[in-house]
Amino acid sequence: MQNTSPTTILETKRLTLRHLSADDAPFILELLNDPSFIQNIGDRNVRTIADGESYILKGPLTSYEKNGFGLDLVILKETGESIGICGLIKRDTLEDVDIGYAFLPRFWSKGYAVESALAVKEYGQKVHGLKRIVAIVVSENQGSIRLLEKIGFEFEKMVKLAGDDVELMLFAFNA
Ligand SMILES: CC(C)(COP(=O)(O)OP(=O)(O)OC[C@H]1O[C@@H](n2cnc3c(N)ncnc32)[C@H](O)[C@@H]1OP(=O)(O)O)[C@@H](O)C(=O)NCCC(=O)NCCS
Repeated sequence: MQNTSPTTILETKRLTLRHLSADDAPFILELLNDPSFIQNIGDRNVRTIADGESYILKGPLTSYEKNGFGLDLVILKETGESIGICGLIKRDTLEDVDIGYAFLPRFWSKGYAVESALAVKEYGQKVHGLKRIVAIVVSENQGSIRLLEKIGFEFEKMVKLAGDDVELMLFAFNA
């Protein structure tokens, strides 16, 4: 029989990062509708389980296929709970690959976001040979800015992505 469990990408001391699958739609529905996600990242208009499945298919799953990487699910090893997403993204609107992450608020301030983002940065360098990884963040998102600085990213400039009027801070890590 074929093994259909989603591929594990990374393990850290406390976390497992694995590919998302359509079965993660209920978690994605909760995460993408959290006010912190909508405020800091945007409203992806995911309102039902079916929307969640469609988001996973068109976003992360398409990216795994096309780029070999994408946003992965972060699981707490101790309990098996899904706590957030973290991974690498190649957008048409940015020249470089960027790192993205979001966690449910009940799992904040425990170092999980730093632990997973650091592992994804190293994975990007070692497995995908990336010499440069960037991150885009709204200037009000101090928690994310602190995280980026902790994992060795530096502020470079303000940018606007094509088709969007919002000014974003561009951070970069150059290996
Ligand atoms: C941005 C975001 C991921 C940051 O999450 P976070 O929970 O602050 O991240 P961490 O827990 O890894 O941050 C480390 C903090 O936990 C504390 N901490 C507690 N226990 C810790 C431990 N065992 N190890 C390390 N740090 C620990 C650290 O002291 C640190 O606090 P500080 O930032 O005040 O110095 C989170 O706020 C989020 O998901 N926001 C919504 C989505 C979003 O904005 N994404 C980014 C878009 S650019």
